[in-house]
Amino acid sequence: MRTPTINSKALTLCAVFASLAFTTQAQAGAAKDGSMAMPADYKQWDAFLSGIEKKSGHIRDIYINSIGAKAQKGQPFADGTVSVMEIYKASGSAGSMTKGELQKVFVMYKNAGNGKYAPAGLQNGDWAYSAFDGKGNKLDVNYDGCRSCHLPLTTSDYIFHYNKYFANR
Ligand code: HEC
Repeated sequence: MRTPTINSKALTLCAVFASLAFTTQAQAGAAKDGSMAMPADYKQWDAFLSGIEKKSGHIRDIYINSIGAKAQKGQPFADGTVSVMEIYKASGSAGSMTKGELQKVFVMYKNAGNGKYAPAGLQNGDWAYSAFDGKGNKLDVNYDGCRSCHLPLTTSDYIFHYNKYFANR
């Protein structure tokens, strides 16, 4: 009888730690631009849109976390949503580009209160932005640039491929 008792205690402890970790991740509080860590496990998330070829010689792949993947068409994403976009160097011509090295990873994180940190006139709802190089090191970028370009997308919760995502899903 002893072994099962120890095992079930260990299991309970595991479950407590797992749920704590989840809570911390889902409700990390309001975040400023550049303050988020790169999510370690994003490659296991749902694909949001993949293989976006850019004339600049890049391919972009976008992932969405499980909170974001529950969103319904026509509604904004819930607090706790994280969008991760990988930017790869690519070669070849349009329509058949080949991925090279991962150059950058861009992250958008939505949570209540993020918007209060935005500079005047650049609030993107409650989204905050972070940028990393291909190895996960934080990049020193001007986050107002991210905000300015995403700012006009008020009808798609500041997400560029909102319509494509729900059309493909
Ligand atoms: C010049 C405009 C522009 C700027 C500046 C910009 N983005 Fe975007 N962003 C886009 C476009 C366009 C897409 C959609 C992917 C595509 O088609 O290239 C996108 C997509 C994204 C996505 C995936 C979610 C979505 O909207 O589809 C994330 C995450 C993201 N950008 C983060 C950032 C971050 C972080 C910065 C600043 C470091 C930034 N962006 C700067 C234009 C921009």
